Amino acid sequence: MRLEQLGAELHKHIKGDTLMIVTDETVADLYLDRCISTVSDGGFEVHAFVIEPGEHSKNGDTYLALLGALAEIPLTRADGIIALGGGVVGDLAGFAAATYLRGIPVIQVPTTLLAAVDSSVGGKTAINLPEGKNLAGAFHQPAFVCQDTSLLATLPEEIYLDGMAEVIKYGIIADADLLTQLQDPDYVKANLDDIISRCVAIKKRFVEEDEHDTGVRQMLNFGHTIGHAIEIASDFDIRHGFAVAKGMAYMAEIAARENWCDVATRDAIIHILETYHYDLSVDFDKEALADIMGKDKKRKGAFLDLVVPTAIGSCRLQRISAEEIERLL
Ligand SMILES: NC(=O)c1ccc[n+]([C@@H]2O[C@H](COP(=O)([O-])OP(=O)(O)OC[C@H]3O[C@@H](n4cnc5c(N)ncnc54)[C@H](O)[C@@H]3O)[C@@H](O)[C@H]2O)c1
Repeated sequence: MRLEQLGAELHKHIKGDTLMIVTDETVADLYLDRCISTVSDGGFEVHAFVIEPGEHSKNGDTYLALLGALAEIPLTRADGIIALGGGVVGDLAGFAAATYLRGIPVIQVPTTLLAAVDSSVGGKTAINLPEGKNLAGAFHQPAFVCQDTSLLATLPEEIYLDGMAEVIKYGIIADADLLTQLQDPDYVKANLDDIISRCVAIKKRFVEEDEHDTGVRQMLNFGHTIGHAIEIASDFDIRHGFAVAKGMAYMAEIAARENWCDVATRDAIIHILETYHYDLSVDFDKEALADIMGKDKKRKGAFLDLVVPTAIGSCRLQRISAEEIERLL
């Protein structure tokens, strides 16, 4: 749906008459005027809350300032929030919507590839604490997701590739045909609508089966346990998607070595990642990575469930003990 159609669409999801648009400065310069126009053309009173771009804005201070701005208007339970931006805006606005007045509707308008295929879908919202990422959060499903892929045209290549790692992940874990399409990066750029829909359909399938992430939804973490450890070891110098690309390649090597998948599956995973020129080297001390993985918040007591590819388009969970992690790496 085009952003211009959002104003009319809102009536299906918002019973009140006021919307707060949350966005960051970069996205505001590009799209805030268009978003304000469509919302007010829809007959709503519209406000905007603009944050600094970047992960550092997903914090308690910005969150409380946003709640304060909502209360000042004041937004009622019948009103809603529009998250216009990438995953940072989506997570922050989603968490504010989950908690303000014990929950008001949020409409997600993703403007990064990562937000389009991942963070805008599935209902996870969060802010970071000084002690770690995403430590305060809630499950709060969006009332509506406005997927206007033309908004992604202004993305810098690095941010686009950051999200592409998640797209590749969907192909590896659940959709061999998608992975075939991804072999041609030009085709992908020309057919983003279709590619994003396929990814969203996969995520929806996993989330509908396991909304609260205790079972099959964990498959979406392929490459993430190692990737997350790499992000932390690099002090977040390596962006999430680039770390996940390394994590997927690393996991493919481990899976082939442990006979959890065949060599052809490993090679196909490495090949698709190389097609997008991800740097797959992992120059971190294995002991340090194992230590970080042992502290992963998704750990179950003394165990960790790793997502292992079994073939292209399928995967399974492999439970390993904390002691085994270092041997595997
Ligand atoms: N809730 C979930 O399920 C979930 C899943 C994955 C990631 N996340 C979270 O998402 C966040 C990362 O999201 P992200 O990668 O979208 O980062 P981001 O929101 O920081 O956006 C990246 C950069 O791109 C800019 N930008 C956004 N849209 C643009 C556009 N159309 N044109 C030009 N520039 C644009 C932003 O200003 C920002 O500088 C992390 O905080 C992560 O924890 C959440």
